[in-house]
Amino acid sequence: MCGIIGVTGSADALAVIMEGLSRLEYRGYDSAGVALQDGGKVWTRRRAGKLAELVEAVGDAPARATAGIGHTRWATHGRPDDRNAHPHTDCTGRLAIVHNGIIENHAALRAELEGTGHTFASDTDTEVLAHLIESHLDVGMDLAAAVRATLAVAQGAFAVAVIHAGDPDLIVASRRVSPLIIGRADGLGLVGSDIPALLGQTRELYAVDDDQLVEMRADSFRITTLDGAEVEPRPLRVDWDLEQAEKGGYDDFMLKEIHEQPRAVADTLLGRVTPGVGLSLDQTRLDDGELREIDKVFIVGCGTSYYAGLAAKYAIEHWTRLPVEIDIASEFRYRDPVLDRNTLVVGVSQSGETVDTLQAMRHAKRWKAKVLVITNVVDSSMAREGDAVLYTRAGPEIGVAATKTHLAQLVAMEVLALYLAQLRGTLYPDEINDLIHQLHRLPEDIARVLESNDHIEAVAEQCKGVRDFFFLGRHVGYPVALEGALKLKEIAYLRAEGYPAGELKHGPIALIEEGTVVVGVANRGHLLDKMLSNVAEVRARGASVVLVSTEGDEATAALADHVLTVPDSHELFAPVLTVIPLQLFAYHLAKARGNDVDKPRNLAKTVTVE
Ligand code: AGP
Repeated sequence: MCGIIGVTGSADALAVIMEGLSRLEYRGYDSAGVALQDGGKVWTRRRAGKLAELVEAVGDAPARATAGIGHTRWATHGRPDDRNAHPHTDCTGRLAIVHNGIIENHAALRAELEGTGHTFASDTDTEVLAHLIESHLDVGMDLAAAVRATLAVAQGAFAVAVIHAGDPDLIVASRRVSPLIIGRADGLGLVGSDIPALLGQTRELYAVDDDQLVEMRADSFRITTLDGAEVEPRPLRVDWDLEQAEKGGYDDFMLKEIHEQPRAVADTLLGRVTPGVGLSLDQTRLDDGELREIDKVFIVGCGTSYYAGLAAKYAIEHWTRLPVEIDIASEFRYRDPVLDRNTLVVGVSQSGETVDTLQAMRHAKRWKAKVLVITNVVDSSMAREGDAVLYTRAGPEIGVAATKTHLAQLVAMEVLALYLAQLRGTLYPDEINDLIHQLHRLPEDIARVLESNDHIEAVAEQCKGVRDFFFLGRHVGYPVALEGALKLKEIAYLRAEGYPAGELKHGPIALIEEGTVVVGVANRGHLLDKMLSNVAEVRARGASVVLVSTEGDEATAALADHVLTVPDSHELFAPVLTVIPLQLFAYHLAKARGNDVDKPRNLAKTVTVE
């Protein structure tokens, strides 16, 4: 949720930290702060608001500081103001800490510490860690030992980085659940919450696993478990470069990422779906023998990833005849689902770090289910912990609203569905070959949909005064409607309800009135006639209608005020195309309303707290 960076051994630690924070800001951005080693003291500066506020406030930072830590915050405890911004310090001001996560037993720890004379300066859970470390330093421990002792009693999720004026070369960092990586360059040691923060300095990165502790110095580093056992550093493979993480000429990362979708889908299919050759999933650690034993599938995720899973359910059930349950991750682990060793649990997460999905995967493993993770981030926590991983290869996604990773998830799960069908013999080889050819054509068709960007912008312009939207779909059009509504909510801040069109008459149709805009997913498919009847019902009640339809479908176009077309495709692949006009519709409405689409209010790219 929050972003962390730390550096030691730099000629200009402040510059390295500020550059890293600028790449982290998308993870959390209600405040930011920095702490620098300052010749036997620690200098800190914290500011509420976007990073620009902090940039203005560091003009009097100590020159030539060689080590320090920085943070961008998304509030969980305490208001997003200056005093709750990180870094937090102990009573002496000689120790500073940045933290991502939640310390669940912070209230009890705080009461104990206040009882022994510690004075708190913020409302955060993080500050208890600063004072606890201080209390261990007071009894003679060194910094690493004090952090170890502190984290042994901390409950919850954390990634932390700590500096102390008494050891100016050292950063101590650790994690449990929340992400943390480290980097090395010539005479430079780095810690960070994610890859883009460190890529500007180095490509030599290493993973840090749960309950490990890093002692990072300018010319050396050491990883140990919280129990003190040495850990061999595990290099992290990085496929991304800095240029990939920049806007590439578009106004926003989101628009750039929408236009990267043909590439994202092609890369996700690459080597897995080859016309004339067949299907291959041999880089996923999947065991065909175990997969043949599977008798039930669960798909688990949050938000946009959940909707990708909902669309995939239709394909997996249709092609494999396996029953598929679909769950929102935060519900899954608490509802006691029926799992055993023949259950396949598919965890879908762009980041691979979303805490609800991560904990759902852990729950499934405890019940001996096979866990397959679908994620975009190589070596993310879920990727490491799953029994198998199928990487979407969409490249870094910076915009908070997921777009290209959603399409990549959809096609990754279509491939999985076909692979399972092939293994189980539920489709004939020529049917699979035909579907492989159709999958292979998708990047081209996606590019065609993107050509209607200007038309969609014009339609959005005409809808910019509307405040209430309904998104309707049937069959695989239903998850597309849900995703279209979510996009509009999260970046345009407009009320948007996604519904299965057949459910409308059971209540929500009461809300339809003159001026309501209904967006219908009405591409060609076996339920199109029923969908069009539902469209006629809302039109009769005064709604304006925007329809996503298949190119050339005149009867559908005749029922709409505005038509957004997509090329014809296999019905089960259609969500990969029909969702794109809805992404662009939300994008242009948000821009027309003057919103910051890359950093929508109240949202963070990766939700690492429950
Ligand atoms: C999508 O636009 C949202 N940012 C959000 O719903 C997101 O999909 C959800 O938080 C899940 O994230 P994940 O894919 O990284 O697990």
